[in-house]
Parts: sequence; C-alpha cells; structure tokens
Amino acid sequence: MGTRRITVTVNGERYEREVEPRRLLVYFLREDLGLTGTHVGCDTTSCGACTVVMDGRAVKSCTVFAVQADGSEILTVEGLARDGELHPLQKGFWDQHGLQCGYCTPGMLMSAYALLQRNPNPTEAEIRLAISGNLCRCTGYQNIVKAIQQAAAELRGEVPAAAPAAEGVAAAAEPNTRGGSD
Ligand code: FES
Ligand code: FES
Repeated sequence: MGTRRITVTVNGERYEREVEPRRLLVYFLREDLGLTGTHVGCDTTSCGACTVVMDGRAVKSCTVFAVQADGSEILTVEGLARDGELHPLQKGFWDQHGLQCGYCTPGMLMSAYALLQRNPNPTEAEIRLAISGNLCRCTGYQNIVKAIQQAAAELRGEVPAAAPAAEGVAAAAEPNTRGGSD
C-alpha cells in the first residue's frame, strides 16, 4: 500500500511523517510519535479513551485517519501540563479524586478541555453531556464532574489554584498511579 506525507502539529511541535492511508490517528500518535498518553480502549468509537483535541474539537482518534489530520493542530494529554505545572483540569482530577484506574482519564481530560474552551461556565448537565462519549468503569462519574467544575472555577479565577506535587503531572496522564478502592 502506498503512503502519504502528512504534517501535523501536536502539542505545539510540528511533525512530518509518511503514513499509510489506513493508519488511524490514535496509532499514529502512540506508535509513530510515541505519545502513549492517549489510550486505546475499544478501537470502535465507543469508549472515548482515545479522545484528543483536533483544531479545537474533541475527536475520538480511533475514528480519524491520520491522513485526515493533515495540516491540523492536535492537543493530547501530554500537552496539558506546562512548565511542570498541572493544568487546572489535571489538578481538579487530583483534588477531587476523579480517577481510579485512570484508563479513561486522558480522554476525559481532553473532552473536558474542549468543553471549557467553548463554554467556560458549563452547567452540570452540560458537563455530563460533554463527557457522554467517554466511558468510565470505575468512578461512577460524580467525582469527574466535580473535577471539571473545580477546573472551570479555577480557570474563571474563582478559586485559588491548588498546588499538588509535581509528580502529579504523570499521575494525571497515566493509569494505575492513583489506584483506589473507594
Ligand atoms: S479507543 Fe477510540 S473510542 Fe474507544
Ligand atoms: S475507567 Fe475511569 S478511572 Fe477506571
């Protein structure tokens, strides 16, 4: 099968790569670029673990061909933290215990990020709608909603920024780092 040259900007960095037309964006990110924070849960558009933000919109990257991302700007979970500081959403998940196994967390974060970009003051119903394409088998969603509400308030300047430890950057991006049984 022939290949196509694509150029994408991921987390502010420009990449040019040859890809097969059938290459899914999620595997391009994980295997070609080594950005394994984006998870694969189902590969069939069901779970949302693979969600990234592409040109400002949350997309399931198992449902996008890499060639369709040609020329686009993509944000993955690795791009949320800046200068060792957690993004307010990551702080929110940390503070509110919005994760247990963490497998859904990168996708949840990216869906929430896209929501807060277009709607800085969402209602609880709007938050629940925004994450309705992201499945979580652990938390029951309540703490995820609280985490997003905390982040939204912080981004609006309504609460002081929390300051979890720097290693929380990895904890909020990777699974199995804050496992719990509650
Ligand atoms: S891996 Fe993409 S929706 Fe589940
Ligand atoms: S699937 Fe959401 S925390 Fe485990």
